[in-house]
Amino acid sequence: MYQLLGNPASPFVRKVRVVLEETGLAGDVEQILVATTPTAPAAEVTAAHALGKIPALIRPDGCTLYDSRVITRYLDARAGGRLYPASHIWETLTLEATGDGIMEAAVLMVYEGRCRPEDKQDHGWVDAQWGKIENALDALTARWMSHLAGPVDAGVIAIGCALGYLDFRHPDREWRMDRDGLDDWFAAFAERDAMKATRPV
Ligand code: BEZ
Repeated sequence: MYQLLGNPASPFVRKVRVVLEETGLAGDVEQILVATTPTAPAAEVTAAHALGKIPALIRPDGCTLYDSRVITRYLDARAGGRLYPASHIWETLTLEATGDGIMEAAVLMVYEGRCRPEDKQDHGWVDAQWGKIENALDALTARWMSHLAGPVDAGVIAIGCALGYLDFRHPDREWRMDRDGLDDWFAAFAERDAMKATRPV
């Protein structure tokens, strides 16, 4: 049995969980909830992941895989390779990197509010993170809508999880404003069984 160390609130963990659902491998993996923070990583996380981050996938042979992109690619390879198609591999990886970048900036914004005292928080830095996200969302709207409308791959899943996280943690930022196409795409994607099964609460 595999073990996945994670927290359902993390968009990177959600991405792995969506891949587990989409590939039919969820039954092979015990999902272990860990309470961890960047400043005080849980002991079981640092034991598995040299940098103390989630997700981490512990294989039955004891070897641990990270980060999320390594885990998703490994799982997909085991399931037949549908989510990293050779014919579009560079586009898929670039789109996945875009989704991961949105998640990273959005998580850093959360950590700034959660891990620092109010008087030490840098609101300019937080707004700069949001600026990166807005640029990425505009790039998606300008250049990636036809890819998003095509077969589900790891890049498409990463964007779905990134937008889901913006709704979850940054609803006041209103990412949908002037992005009707992306909004419509996400409304349909969010109805997939894998997305509904992994929605953070
Ligand atoms: C969150 O609560 O938003 C979160 C939890 C774990 C990792 C990343 C984000």
